This record gives sequence, structure tokens and C-alpha cells, in this order.
Amino acid sequence: MKDSYYITTPIYYANDVLHIGHTYTTVAADIITRWKKNSVNNVFFLTGSDEHGSKICEAAKEKNKEPLAYCNEIVDSFKNTWQQLNIEYTSFIRTTDTVHILTVEKFIQALYDNGDIYKSNYEGLYCVPCEKFLSPTELVNDLCPDHNTKPVKQCEENYFFRLSKYRDQLIELITNKNHLQHFDILPEQRRNEVLGKLKLGLDDISISRTNLPWAIPLPFDKSQTIYVWIDALLNYISAIGYADDSEKTQFKKFWPADVHLLAKDILWFHSVIWPAMLLALKLPLPAKVFSHGFFTVEGQKMSKTIGNVLHAEDLVKIYGVDATRFLLLTAFPFGSDGDISLALFKEKYNAHLANNIGNFVSRVTNMAQKYFNGKVTIPENWPDPEITEILKILEPADTHISNVRVDSFIEIMISLSSWGNLYIDKNAPWQLAKTDMKALEKVLYNALIIIKYIAVLSSAVMPESAVKIWKTIDEKQDIQECARNLAKLSPLTGSNVNKPEILFLKIL
Ligand code: MSP
Repeated sequence: MKDSYYITTPIYYANDVLHIGHTYTTVAADIITRWKKNSVNNVFFLTGSDEHGSKICEAAKEKNKEPLAYCNEIVDSFKNTWQQLNIEYTSFIRTTDTVHILTVEKFIQALYDNGDIYKSNYEGLYCVPCEKFLSPTELVNDLCPDHNTKPVKQCEENYFFRLSKYRDQLIELITNKNHLQHFDILPEQRRNEVLGKLKLGLDDISISRTNLPWAIPLPFDKSQTIYVWIDALLNYISAIGYADDSEKTQFKKFWPADVHLLAKDILWFHSVIWPAMLLALKLPLPAKVFSHGFFTVEGQKMSKTIGNVLHAEDLVKIYGVDATRFLLLTAFPFGSDGDISLALFKEKYNAHLANNIGNFVSRVTNMAQKYFNGKVTIPENWPDPEITEILKILEPADTHISNVRVDSFIEIMISLSSWGNLYIDKNAPWQLAKTDMKALEKVLYNALIIIKYIAVLSSAVMPESAVKIWKTIDEKQDIQECARNLAKLSPLTGSNVNKPEILFLKIL
């Protein structure tokens, strides 16, 4: 069995601070990473910054800065955002890192030596904010539909990559699930869109520019620079040592990636251009590309002009880190488009976190204190058939993570807590306290077990809360070991349930 797991987010443009769109992808990747670490020894989670191109050049010019100095500041802000959100990436790659530049040069030279790059004339309409050429049919009133800006006409002699050569092979690898090199695009609807477009035909693409100094020069013709998207895609292999020919390179351990996580705006680059580049050099393709949906804020596209751009930091101030991670990823199904609404966030925070999970932990641990002074002992014949029912709720956890369904994974935590609250209501411990202390102890023990498993799942989603819960129930077991063995319930290992800390204060 492969004892490594490699997950990536896009590398974000270093032209501005990050907003919650970027955060959404990165928190999802962090949740998957944290969960995978329970059972896989070598997990690599890559994120980074995309620093070349006209967009960044212009942003730097506006601030009267050199592009690299400008990027340095933006990268600091990226890292700060990730720290605030408790994102534990393994590596942060910058496209201005020497190791990346060497990788790009090595790769492009190999493509050229292979005969996959040729020179030709190009004329097209280039959208700077998209950093790509748009076809006339994509324009709306002569403007880029995504940015509402007029694309600029570019006419020059460029180098081209023979993308069209790989069309049939790509269709086969995407379609044939039994192929050893099967390349999965998820969700299925997105796969069908990509296949549909591929079947219509595929043109070669221009991969160089003549007038863009803030980019990597082509190794075989220094008068041109490499198109930023080609440069950017290579981050996924530069960060793990593709250019390092020594035996100790991480490339051998981690490539091919298990999943590239991104949104639909950049799916074509990841599901067609990137795999074709890899096929050209006979490198294995990533196992999966998962494209989550795009979201609007309060029904509108996020935009500086409208002034509705949300930053993760704004949410952290209101809800704290853990709840922000939770709320973002449960706002709508992962993979579909959706809307983020602050009113709905508040409602969900109170319903799921304060009233359901928070309240469950607090009521059960309080009762353990009140009736048993915190010392609840294991019942005879434990686990009884009643508590083993939660195994059914826990069962799909690993599958959800492997299928990149972070939202469904989080739902398990909510279901567990709802199950627990019902279990308490049904058994009415306050009544049992008057009649049957043994039965009461069993109910509370089982409820504490549910709390234990909420913490286990929470260690991936809301890591700070997981630690608090673990302390409250005085657990001594290694939380990762518990997560690895979800098919069998582990007993409580602590000796004293402590007074609970408030996990999620209700917001009025
Ligand atoms: N630099 C390129 C990616 C190169 S990867 C080899 C880029 N960067 S970006 O800064 O524009 O980030 C794009 C990504 O941000 C999207 O694919 C998605 O992951 C995330 N999102 C940005 N806005 C978003 C929404 N409104 N909704 C959901 N995700 C969004 O493209």
C-alpha cells in the first residue's frame, strides 16, 4: 500500500491579499490533510503563491514597488492568513523560488527536446486579470465576462505546445476507469463538461510571450518568457523536488499527486493542459482533480467595486478559528456552487455549534461532575448494542475524505452530536439519578464516548476544540490512534471528567 499522500491547493496570485474564496479551498485541503495524517505516514500538503505575469507587475507598479518586493509583502500576508486559520501546510512554494525556476527550465527544455514545442504566429485577445487568451465567443459585449474588462489584442510570434497531440490519450485516461493511469475529474458533472469540450477539439497553445519581462525566460530562447500558467502548473512538481536528481528527492515518494483541489474557474488548466504536459514527458498523472463550486456572497459575486469581498480574518473575529473553518465548509455542498450569507452563518453557528455540539459536551460533562464527581466508570459488557449504533454513523468517515467530500465528513460530527442529544433526552439522566445510579452511569459513559468521537473528528475540522474536549474528558489515548481505529469503539481512558470549558458561546 502507498504510504504517502500528496494534496495541493492552487497557488494564489500574489497581487492582492487572500479572500474567503481562497480560504475555502485551503481549509478543505487542511481538513483532508489532518485526517489523512492519522493513517498515512507521509502526507504532503502544498500551497503557495503565483508571482509572475502582467497582473502582478501592474499591481506592484501601482504601489511603486519592484515586483519581487511587492510579492514578498503579499506572501507574508498569505502566510499570516494561513496561520490565523490554523492551516498546517507542509510546504509553501513561490514561483520565484530558485528551485521552482530550475524546475520550469528543466521541464520546458525537455518538452522542447521532445519536439513538443514549436514556433508560430499568434493573434488573440488576452485578458490580463485571467492571464489567458479568450475566444471571441467567450466575450460578452466585447468584455471578459468574469472581469468586465476589455481584453487586449496581442499579435506575435510565440512558441506553442502541441496540446492537440494528447487529446485522444486524455479522453481515454479520463473515461476509462479501469486504466492503470485513470485520471479522475470530480464531481462527475465537471468531468462531463471537460470531456464534452475535449470532444469538440483541442488546439495547441501558445506558451511564451515576447513583451513580458516579469516571467521566466525560455531556456532555449531568452528573448521570450514563459506563459505564467505553464510556469504556475509546474509548482506541483517543483515543490517536491522534480529538479533534484539525487536519490533523496521527495518526488519519488510523492508523485503522482493524490488530489489537486481547486475551483471550476481553473479546471481546464488542471484537467487538460497540465495532464497533457505530464503525458508529453511520460510522467504519471495525478489520481484526481476535484473542482469545488464557486460561491457568491449575499447573492453577489465578490468584487472590490461592490465592496463585498469577505476575508477570513473578518469571520475569525466573529466566530473564532474553529467555527470559521466549520461554517465555511458547511455553507453548501462541496462541489456545488453556493452562496455565503452572514445571517445564515450566525444561524448555523448557533444551531450546530452552540446548541448542538457545544451544548451536548457541556450538559454531559456537567452531569458527570454533578452525579459522579467526574468519575464515571466503564459499564459491564461495554460496548452495549445501543452505543455500537454510532459505528454506523462513523463508518463513512474515511470514504468521505478519500472522495474529497469534506462537507459530508463534517456532517458526521453533527449527526453524532444530534444522536447524543437524543440519547440523553430519551434516557433522561435527571430521572435516573433518582432511581437507578447504575443505569445513569451507563448512559453518561456512553454519552462521554460520543463526545470522545466528536473530538476525534473535530481534530481535523476544529483542532482547537478537539484539544479542549480531550482535556475536558481527560482522555489519555492518542487521538490519532483512536481515529485510525474507527471501526471499533475505544473505551474512555481518563479518570476524571473535568469542568467543561465553553466551546461555542451563543451569538445573539
Ligand atoms: N494562480 C492561479 C492558480 C494557479 S494553480 C497552478 C489562480 N489563482 S487565484 O488566486 O485566482 O485563485 C483561484 C482559486 O481561488 C480558485 O480555483 C478557487 O480555488 C479559489 N477561489 C477564488 N474565488 C472563489 C470563489 N468565489 N468561490 C470559491 N472558490 C474561489 O487562479
